[in-house]
Amino acid sequence: MESIKGWKRTHTCGELNLDSVGKDVILMGWVHSRRDLGKLIFVDLRDREGITQVVFDPQISQSAYEKAKQLKDEYVIAVKGKVDRRIKGQENPKLVTGEIEVKAESLRILNSSELLPFQIHGAVDGSETLRLKYRYLEMRRHEVMEVFRLRHRIASFIRNYFDKKGFIEVETPFLTKSTPEGARDYLVPSRVHKGKFYALPQSPQLFKQILMIAGFDRYYQIVRCFRDEDLRADRQPEFTQVDVEMSFVDEEDVMAVFEEMIKRLFDEVLGYSVSYPIQRLDYKDAIELFGTDKPDTRFGMQLRDITELVKDSELRVFQDVINAGGVIKAINVKEAEFSRKRLDELSEEVKSYGAKGIIWAKVSSNNAWQSPIKKYLSDESKSKINQFLDAKPGDTIIIVADKRDVVNSSLGMLRVSIAKSLGIIKENDYSFVWINRFPLFQYNEQEHRLEPMHHPFTSPLDEDIELVEKEPLKVRAKAYDLVLNGQEIGGGSIRIHSLELQKRIFKIIGISEEEAQKKFGFFLEALRYGAPPHGGMALGFDRLVAIMAGKESIREVIPFPKTTSAICPLTGAPSEVDEEQLRELGISKSN
Ligand code: AMO
Repeated sequence: MESIKGWKRTHTCGELNLDSVGKDVILMGWVHSRRDLGKLIFVDLRDREGITQVVFDPQISQSAYEKAKQLKDEYVIAVKGKVDRRIKGQENPKLVTGEIEVKAESLRILNSSELLPFQIHGAVDGSETLRLKYRYLEMRRHEVMEVFRLRHRIASFIRNYFDKKGFIEVETPFLTKSTPEGARDYLVPSRVHKGKFYALPQSPQLFKQILMIAGFDRYYQIVRCFRDEDLRADRQPEFTQVDVEMSFVDEEDVMAVFEEMIKRLFDEVLGYSVSYPIQRLDYKDAIELFGTDKPDTRFGMQLRDITELVKDSELRVFQDVINAGGVIKAINVKEAEFSRKRLDELSEEVKSYGAKGIIWAKVSSNNAWQSPIKKYLSDESKSKINQFLDAKPGDTIIIVADKRDVVNSSLGMLRVSIAKSLGIIKENDYSFVWINRFPLFQYNEQEHRLEPMHHPFTSPLDEDIELVEKEPLKVRAKAYDLVLNGQEIGGGSIRIHSLELQKRIFKIIGISEEEAQKKFGFFLEALRYGAPPHGGMALGFDRLVAIMAGKESIREVIPFPKTTSAICPLTGAPSEVDEEQLRELGISKSN
C-alpha cells in the first residue's frame, strides 16, 4: 500500500471537462472498472461526484502502466496526470467528464479490495439482508448516494425554513421516561439505580409541551424517535420526525406553517407545484368516501353507499345485511376488463378484512349488467345505480355488503389495490390531504376500554368538551393528520393546557390519579405554572423523503436501517452481552 504523502487531490472525479484540457491534475477514488486493451489500460475512476476515465499508456509512463495491471475493482488509487481530449468517437455523452480523459503519469495504489460479496454496479443483485450487511458497499452505488443527498437537501431546507420563521431547535433527552404514542417502549437499564429503567422516547411530545410552558414559543427539532412495534415498509423501530410546537395558536396556525413548508419544499427540491391550499377532509368523510383515514387522493373511485338503491332487492345477502344494520357500498372501476379469475382473486383479497367477498357487475350497452346478481335487481334499480355511480358501458361495479366498518375497510383497500394493478395512479404525482376532526377517543375492543386516538394530551373541540363524560365516542379532537399519496406523513393537535381538563381525560381513559401521577406527574406539575395555549405537529421525515425519492420503503432512505424483524444486519444488533455487563446492571437472564 502506498500513502498520499505529498499528493493533494486537485479535482473530484465529476468535474473535469473540455475547459480542463492541458491541466495537470491529481484524482483519488475507487477503480469502478478496468479494461486492458493490451497497448493501453483504461480505468474508470470513481468518487462521490462522478467518474473520470484514466488512460495508462506505456509511452507516457511505463511504471504507471505496469502498476495499473494489478488494479482490480474497488481498489483505491491516486492518479497524477494530464487532462486530454478523448479521441473522436470515444466520447461518452452520459458523463459530465465524457469528453476528456486523464493520461496517467504516475499511479499510487492506496488500498486493495477483496472480491465483493455482490455486484455493486449495474443491476441490483444479492438479498436485501446481504446488501444491508454491506450497506457501505451498497452506498457506493450512485443511485443510493443520491438518495442521501436528497435526504440532506430536504433536511437543510426544513432547518432553514423553521429558522427563518423564528423557531428554535432544541434537543430533548433520549434517556427519559415513557411517552405514550401507542407503541411499546425500548428500555435502557440504569446501572447506578439498579432495577430502574430509562425509556427511549416514542416522541419528544411532553418535552416540547414543557418547552412551551418554559416560554420558548416556537420549537422545532429533527429528532429520532423509538418505538417497539410491528415493522412494515413504512415503519422502523427508530425513525426521524420533524417535530414542531407553537404557543398561542389554533389548528389553522399549525397547519398553515406546515402547508407553506410543504409547498416551498416540493417546489424547491422537486420543481413540483403542490395544489394549494391543501384540501381538507373530516375524518368521518374520509372513512365514508375512501374507507380509511389515509386516503390516496391521486385518483377517484370513491366508495358510494347504495343501500337505499338496493333495499328492495330480494337478494338474501342484501336483506340480511340491511336487517343487521349494515351497509352496501360500491366502487365503479372505469373501463376495466376483469377476468373471472381476477374477480375471484379480488373476492379473496377482501376476506382478510372480514368481508365475505365481493359482488361484481359489468356494465354493458343500454345500462344492462352482466353480473351474478342481475336477476335480483329491477332494470330501474340497475339504471339508478349506474347513474349514481356514473357507470358507463365497459365499467365494472364492485359491491361489498357487510357491517359498516368491514365494508369501508375492505372496499377502501380494494380501491387502492385495483388502482395499483391497473396502473391508474400517475407516477410523480403528489396528492396531499389534511384529515381533521378525528374522534378524541376510540374503543379498544380487546381491552374493553376507551383510549386516545392520537395521544392523551390532545384537546377536544371546544363545543364537544361537555360530551367528554356523557358521550366520549362522539367527542371530536383538535387533531389533524397530513396524508400524502395514501400515507400518513404527519400528525398533530392542539393540546390541553388546563390541568383540570387533562385530569378529566386521564380519568375517561382509565388512568387513575395515582397512575397519572406516577407516569406523568412531572408534566401535570408543569401544567400548574401558567401553561400557554399551545399545539404542534410532527412529520414522519423518513416517509416524506421516501415518497419524494420515489422509494417504496423507508428502509431505502435510512442510512443504516433495520430489517422487518428489527435486526441490524450490518452490526448484528441486537446481540448478547457479557454476563459481567448484566451483573453490573443487576439483570439476570431468565432462560
Ligand atoms: P405520530 O405518532 O402520529 O405523532 O407520529 C408522527 C409521524 O411520524 C411518523 N411515524 C413513523 N415513521 C416511521 N416509523 C415509525 N415507526 C413511525 N411512527 C410514526 C408518521 C407519523 O405521522 N407526538 C406526536 C406528534 C404531535 O402530536 O405533535 C406524534 O409522535 O409519519
